[in-house]
Amino acid sequence: MDYKINSIVEILRNSESVMVLTGAGISAESGISTFRGSEGLWEKFKVEDIATPAAFYRDSDLVWRWYSDRRKGMLDAKPNLGHIAIAELESFFDDFLLVTQNIDNLHRRAGSKNLSEIHGNIFREFCINCSFARASNECYDLTPKCPKCGAKLRPDVVWFGEQLPKKELELSFDFASRADTIIVIGTSAIVYPVAELPYIVKSSSGEVIEVNLAETPLTQIADVSILEKAGIVLPEILKLLRKQMG
Ligand code: OAD
Ligand code: ZN
Repeated sequence: MDYKINSIVEILRNSESVMVLTGAGISAESGISTFRGSEGLWEKFKVEDIATPAAFYRDSDLVWRWYSDRRKGMLDAKPNLGHIAIAELESFFDDFLLVTQNIDNLHRRAGSKNLSEIHGNIFREFCINCSFARASNECYDLTPKCPKCGAKLRPDVVWFGEQLPKKELELSFDFASRADTIIVIGTSAIVYPVAELPYIVKSSSGEVIEVNLAETPLTQIADVSILEKAGIVLPEILKLLRKQMG
C-alpha cells in the first residue's frame, strides 16, 4: 500500500483543483449500511416500495417510517476517520469540492465545508405543495403535514426516477471539467449521472484515484486504485501530505 500512498500524495502535491466523490462505503465504518452487496439495503428492501415518488403516493406513512428509522441510525452514528481525513484534506487546497451521494450528514459533522450533497440530506424535509422546507431530526410514524398549507411533507432526498438538484449538478459537473484530480471513495460508481464525474475529470486530463474495498467499473481507468478500507487509507494519505506540505 505504501507506494500507492506515495503516488497519491505526489499527484495531490501537483494538483490545484481537487474533487472528492464519496458513496455509502465512506460511512460503512460508522455503522451505516451500504446499498449493494449481500448486506446492502437493496437486498432487504425493494427500491420501488420505498425510494420512488410512486411509493410515496401509494403509502407515505410506510416511506416515512423507513426514513425515520434511517434518520435515527444516522443520528446515532458518528463521523469516522475517513470523514475526518476528507475534512482535513480540504484545508490543503484553495479549490476543493466534496460531492457526496450520501444523505447522512456525516461529512458536515466531520467539518467539511465545500460540500455538495447531490442526493439530498435526510435531516431536511419539504412540502410537496408549497415552498415550505425545514431542517428536522424527528422520527415519524405518520406522515408530517405542512404547517403552512396542510399538504404532506417529504424527506429532502432524491428518489429513483427523479432529477438531481440542478444547482448541485451544475456545480459538480463544472468542477469536474477543471479538476486536476478526483478521489473516488466507497462508491460502486454505477449510479448515473454521478458516476460520470470521474470520466469527465479523466477526459479533461485530470487524474483519477480510487479507494474502495473491492474493484468497480472505475478501477480500469483509475490512475491509482487502492483496495482497502477508507478509514485506513485516508488517514495515511493525510499523514504523508502533512509531512510533505506542512
Ligand atoms: P453502494 O452500496 O452501491 O456501494 C458502496 C461501495 O462502497 C461498494 O463499492 C463497496 O465495495 C464500498 N465499500 C464498502 N465499505 C467500504 C469501506 N470501509 N471503505 C471503502 N469502500 C467501502 O453505494 P453507493 O455507490 O453510494 O442513491 O450507491 C450510490 C447510490 O445508489 C446511492 O446514493 C443511492 C443508491 O441507490 C439514491 O438513493 C438516489
Ligand atoms: Zn405546504
